[in-house]
Amino acid sequence: MDMQIRPRRLRYGEALRKMVRETRMDQSSLIYPIFVKEGSGIVEEIPTMPGQYRYSIDTMGRKLEALIDAGVSSVMFFGIPDHKDEIGSGAYAEDGIIQKALQKAAKEYPQLYRITDVCMCEYTSHGHCGVLCGQEVDNDKTLELLAKTALSHVQAGADMVAPSDMMDGRVAAIRNMLDQNGYCTTPIMSYAVKYASAFYGPFRDAAGSAPSFGDRKSYQMDYHNSREGIKEALLDVAEGADIIMVKPAMSYLDMVTKIRDTVQVPVAAYSVSGEYAMIKAAASLGYIDEEKIICETAASAFRAGCDIYLTYYAQEIAQYIQEGKIG
Ligand code: PBG
Repeated sequence: MDMQIRPRRLRYGEALRKMVRETRMDQSSLIYPIFVKEGSGIVEEIPTMPGQYRYSIDTMGRKLEALIDAGVSSVMFFGIPDHKDEIGSGAYAEDGIIQKALQKAAKEYPQLYRITDVCMCEYTSHGHCGVLCGQEVDNDKTLELLAKTALSHVQAGADMVAPSDMMDGRVAAIRNMLDQNGYCTTPIMSYAVKYASAFYGPFRDAAGSAPSFGDRKSYQMDYHNSREGIKEALLDVAEGADIIMVKPAMSYLDMVTKIRDTVQVPVAAYSVSGEYAMIKAAASLGYIDEEKIICETAASAFRAGCDIYLTYYAQEIAQYIQEGKIG
């Protein structure tokens, strides 16, 4: 057979396959999202996300320690307050759930990098991501509250803030607020390319943040659109975003690649609750091999071009990297 080029030559044996591997992964690229709620002694499994829990402030340390031991050094905090109101005042309360969790984490786990999700939906009685004017979210009024929320997170010990509300102009509003208060070195990771997605379903169960009426389509993006995502990413970079996020990940890897090719800042991909739930459910039925699917899914996000990966499987992925199964 006269065949000089044989791609299979580079596929014989694990050592060679690893040598020529194009995508490398590192534990430092992983961020774990954690749910913290009011109360004490709580370790409550989330029914739609088996293996994931809501913790109270006194129990969250168990998970944080396990993450640190596995090599995950960054966490994104989500708060579940006891009290919700029209204006989401728990989001920026000095003694709010996130603020208290940050203070404790900063004191007890200073080696952990603390990121917070900045949004109103977990704190508003109507479950929308901002304050309402009639049946609509009032963009510009919401900006003031988001900026206030971001500032209170940073004052409580957040190392980075991540606005996920999708209001226009929120990166600039948060940047100004942080700068005016002396936090000009605190980075903003913007959920810039965030779609109105059914993949957030389990998260909304976990956080009790489903909108009580309507949907989020007037602020999150229509999933038929791609150029619009680039527009959002470029705008947020111009407003001062330090990192751009694409969310969800699995069905949006085209956007990860496009954004990676468009902006000069690091790109994050968020493998959301519905992605986790699908893998868990199929694995529990014995239809797929959970470990192999976790590895393949994570590698595909990095192959698509993300630099940072947010995932409920962060601890497992860190362990698989350590064991040489991926990366
Ligand atoms: C808050 C927020 C959501 C998620 C992250 N931040 C929910 C939403 O936008 O409805 C989803 C995360 C996940 O599904 O894992 N706005």
